[in-house]
Amino acid sequence: MKVLIATEKPFAPEAVNGIREIIEQANYELALLENYNDKSELLAAVADVDAIIIRSDKITREVMDAAKQLKIVVRAGAGYDNVDLAAATEKGVTVMNTPGQNSNAVAELALGMMVLKARNKYSGKAGTELKDKNLGIHAYGNVGRLVGNIAKGFGMKIFAFDPFVDKSSIEKDGVTALDSVEALYEKCQYISLHIPANDKTKNSINYNLLNLMPQNGTLVNTARKEVVDEDGLLKLMEDRNDIGYLSDIAPDARETFEQKYSDRVFFTPKKMGAQTAEANINAGLASANQIVGFLKNGVTTYKVN
Ligand code: 3PG
Repeated sequence: MKVLIATEKPFAPEAVNGIREIIEQANYELALLENYNDKSELLAAVADVDAIIIRSDKITREVMDAAKQLKIVVRAGAGYDNVDLAAATEKGVTVMNTPGQNSNAVAELALGMMVLKARNKYSGKAGTELKDKNLGIHAYGNVGRLVGNIAKGFGMKIFAFDPFVDKSSIEKDGVTALDSVEALYEKCQYISLHIPANDKTKNSINYNLLNLMPQNGTLVNTARKEVVDEDGLLKLMEDRNDIGYLSDIAPDARETFEQKYSDRVFFTPKKMGAQTAEANINAGLASANQIVGFLKNGVTTYKVN
C-alpha cells in the first residue's frame, strides 16, 4: 500500500517524521508532495496511491479520477469543504477528518488577533483591553470551546450560539448560551467565527447581522472566508467607521479592505491558524493512524461521507 502526504502548505518536519514512522511500521510506503504550485503535480502524484493525507488541498473529482487505486483520504484537520464528498462516495473512497487535533492552535490565533487589534497592531498608540468585553462564540465546537476557555483567562465575558449543541453543555463551561444568532451579534463586541463552510452558511455573515454589533464590533474569522458576505461587510465598514475585521483567511477583496480600512483590518499572509508544530504533529499522526486502522482493520471512526 502507498500513502501520499499532499500538502501545498507543508507540515512541520517532526510531523512528517512521525507519519513516516507509523506508515512504515505498517509496512506501507510513504510518498511526499509538499509545496506544490500546480494541480498537475498533484494529479501525477496520486496516480498509484491507496491513501492521501491532505490539509486544505483540494481533492476534486478530477483528482479522484486520476487516483485509480484510491481508498481513503484523510483531511488532517477539521473542515473538509475542500473534498468533493459526493464524488468520493460515488467512487467508494472513504473520507475522514481529524476533529480536535489542531483546535488549540486555531483558538490561540483567534485570541492573538484580538489582542493585536485591541493594541492597535502594537503601533505605540494607546489601545484597549479585552478584560470585561463581551466575546461571542459563533458555533461551540472544538475550536469555539477552546477560544472561550482561553478568553476566560483574559477576563472576557463569554457568550455562545450553537443550535447543534445542548445549552447545558455550553453553560457548564461558564459560558452564556444564547437562543439566536442575532442575540449573539447584538450582545458582543468581539465575535469569533467557528462555523463550517457549506451551502447553508456561505455568505450568512452579512450586513444586517454584522450591523447588530455594538460600538467597535470586531469580527474574528479563523473559520472560512466563504461564510462572510464580503460585499456586505465592505458596505458596513463604509457606513460604520468602528467596525473591524480580523481574518486568517484573507478575503477576495483583500486589497480594497487594506487600502480603505488599514487600521481596522488584519489578514494573515496565508491561513496559519493550524500552522504550529503541535497541531501538525497531532493532526498528522492521527491521520496516519486512521489510515492504518482503516486499511488493516476497516475502522471508520471520523468518516464524514
Ligand atoms: C481546519 O479546517 O482544520 C483548519 O482550517 C486548518 O487548515 P490547514 O490545515 O489548511 O491549516
